[in-house]
Amino acid sequence: MYSRIIGTGSYLPAKTLTNFDLEKIVDTSDEWIVSRSGIHERHIAADDETTSDLAMHASRRAIEAAGIAPNDIDLIIVATTSPDKTFPSTACILQDKLGITSGGAAFDMQAVCGGFVYALNTADMYIKCGQARTVLVVGAEVLSRMLDWNDRTTCVLFGDGAGAVVLQASETPGILAGKLHSDGRHHALLRADGNIRHGAVAGEPFIKMEGQAVFKFAVTVLSSVVEEVLAGTGMKGSDIDWLVPHQANIRIIEATAKKLGLGMDNVVATVAQHGNTSSASIPLALDTAVRDGRIKPGQTLLLEAIGGGFTWGAVLLRY
Ligand code: ACO
Repeated sequence: MYSRIIGTGSYLPAKTLTNFDLEKIVDTSDEWIVSRSGIHERHIAADDETTSDLAMHASRRAIEAAGIAPNDIDLIIVATTSPDKTFPSTACILQDKLGITSGGAAFDMQAVCGGFVYALNTADMYIKCGQARTVLVVGAEVLSRMLDWNDRTTCVLFGDGAGAVVLQASETPGILAGKLHSDGRHHALLRADGNIRHGAVAGEPFIKMEGQAVFKFAVTVLSSVVEEVLAGTGMKGSDIDWLVPHQANIRIIEATAKKLGLGMDNVVATVAQHGNTSSASIPLALDTAVRDGRIKPGQTLLLEAIGGGFTWGAVLLRY
């Protein structure tokens, strides 16, 4: 038994914030942001848009592309680090917004930017062990609300958005391999400390990052996890049609592609237009390349991501 992606969808809030807009807010420049990260612009959710709203739009598109009814879904996993509420889960709120009443399970997955790969791998396990047949896997974020707009080292990097896939049990090969890792010793390098105590938020609510340390760690572990996943299947970098990486920084993406022996013609890169949308970045990139015709049925895709924690992982699949 395999699990296969049978539909993808994504959603970006209408408002865009360009590097030139940011030049008016903090001491930065388009030249610095582009040369260090590859980002030109990012989307920012409207004040009344929540993570579950973004997830709902992306999910409806994925469900439509899959040609299924919402009630066919028997598991929803939402990867997010910017949930609507402390509880209930964004996945349960999304289940309601999609009108799903079939009683399937729904839960959130918190692995920061590693979230979508974590969620996809988990969904694959549920299908392979027979606990679910049709799974909606979503990455959705409004990280702009966790940014200190006076901190130029972080506020220029992130954006909002959502992406979704419908994963279904299949006898035809779909997900071929996957591997997840974490190393909590590095939890302080990338974090948002705020937490709720007695009705008030205690601690710094904004994202803090040791950029250079994150960069070095990312390049090292992403290269090793993609090799690990490929080794398990006997495949090589040259067997991959598309690398669909987490979109944090074009230099990290280029380094990972190079290690695999892939040119940028084999990489789906949306970081220039989306910025780092954390757990939403891979399904956003995937849906972009499916809808513009680059990714075709039968092709081999490698998805990889790293996020705060640190968490990291990769999934190899036949689309
Ligand atoms: N505009 C202008 N100058 C800036 C800005 C800015 N927005 N931000 C920092 N600078 C300055 C710094 O103050 C520093 O100045 P100084 O030399 O006078 O001290 C200089 O630019 C260089 O700063 P560095 O931090 O050394 O720049 P670096 O080349 O490392 O690039 C960056 C920074 C883009 C953050 C890079 O380190 C990076 O991409 N790291 C990885 C980030 C990442 O992938 N995060 C996501 C992980 S996934 C998740 O879970 C969220």
